[in-house]
Amino acid sequence: MNEDTLTTTARALVAPNKGILAADESTGTIAKRLASIKVENTEEARRSYRQMLLTTPGAEAFISGVIMYHETLGQRTDAGVPFPAALSERGIISGIKVDTGAKPLALHSDEKITEGLDGLRDRLTDYRERGARFAKWRAVITIGDGTPSEACIVANAHALARYAALCQEAELVPIVEPEVLMDGDHSIDRCEEVTARTLGEVFTALRRHDVLLEGILLKPNMVISGKGCATQAKVDEVARRTVRCLLRHVPAAVPGVVFLSGGQDDVTATAHLNAMNRLHADNPWELSFSYGRALQQSALSAWGGKADQLGAGQKAFFHRAKANSAARSGRWDEGLEKTAGKV
Ligand code: 13P
Repeated sequence: MNEDTLTTTARALVAPNKGILAADESTGTIAKRLASIKVENTEEARRSYRQMLLTTPGAEAFISGVIMYHETLGQRTDAGVPFPAALSERGIISGIKVDTGAKPLALHSDEKITEGLDGLRDRLTDYRERGARFAKWRAVITIGDGTPSEACIVANAHALARYAALCQEAELVPIVEPEVLMDGDHSIDRCEEVTARTLGEVFTALRRHDVLLEGILLKPNMVISGKGCATQAKVDEVARRTVRCLLRHVPAAVPGVVFLSGGQDDVTATAHLNAMNRLHADNPWELSFSYGRALQQSALSAWGGKADQLGAGQKAFFHRAKANSAARSGRWDEGLEKTAGKV
């Protein structure tokens, strides 16, 4: 393991004012996104859409890295340049989703375990040769009646640790993503309790597997009310509780926390990140973003699958990237949404 390579890459991914674009939807998930704008899920549609995002002029001021899907890593721009090379020309680091999805956990029908460890060592070597410098693995924790079970949390934490160790051996920075879903009518208290338990197990497992904490990034959910909960916590409460939970469970050696958006609307995801950085400027780690939907939704709608709307799609993506960049230092405010052409 080359500790310098890992820590340098991890820090570059959370460089000031920058965050990560998650554009690693599996073919099944991107099908749903494309269906929402009535575009057929062909390989060319997926390439055109990702190309639009990845080639947005000026986005490199706000975006440090892009997480791609297996297929995307091998795709090229119209000019024939492989996506990883096109990104690297602009100083953007390529990442790759390496899990093979969350599957039903045996004997726990409402819960999931993420798969993909078999053969991972060889896949990581191949991904590094093709230009990837970091990776992502997402574990899914569901809050419900009697869930999450200890079995689910421990099994997912174990898998995350084995994935992270394999990544570091291959000199790829692992993004460790334990996502406590916001689906359900649970309170913010319950989200905080489950997030705390999950993070506790994840860091126990990482330590047990000798993972270098300086060479990972954590990608957690925010501590937030369940989508269906009658009482929705306000922005400052989400910020306060999220940072409190992280301070209790995430070692200061970790260079950065890059949140997922998890179904929050785009402006809310920005407002939450902004509040965390405004209220808690002295955090031990960088607090940044690795959003999928919250960075892409407005761009997807503005583009609409039409070549002549490429500029509108890029304008929308640029705007969200810039807004989240401002939120990295608590400099965003809602007024920016009105002036900056939210498409
Ligand atoms: P969302 O921001 O849409 O939750 O996606 C982030 C991600 O990469 C989930 O694995």
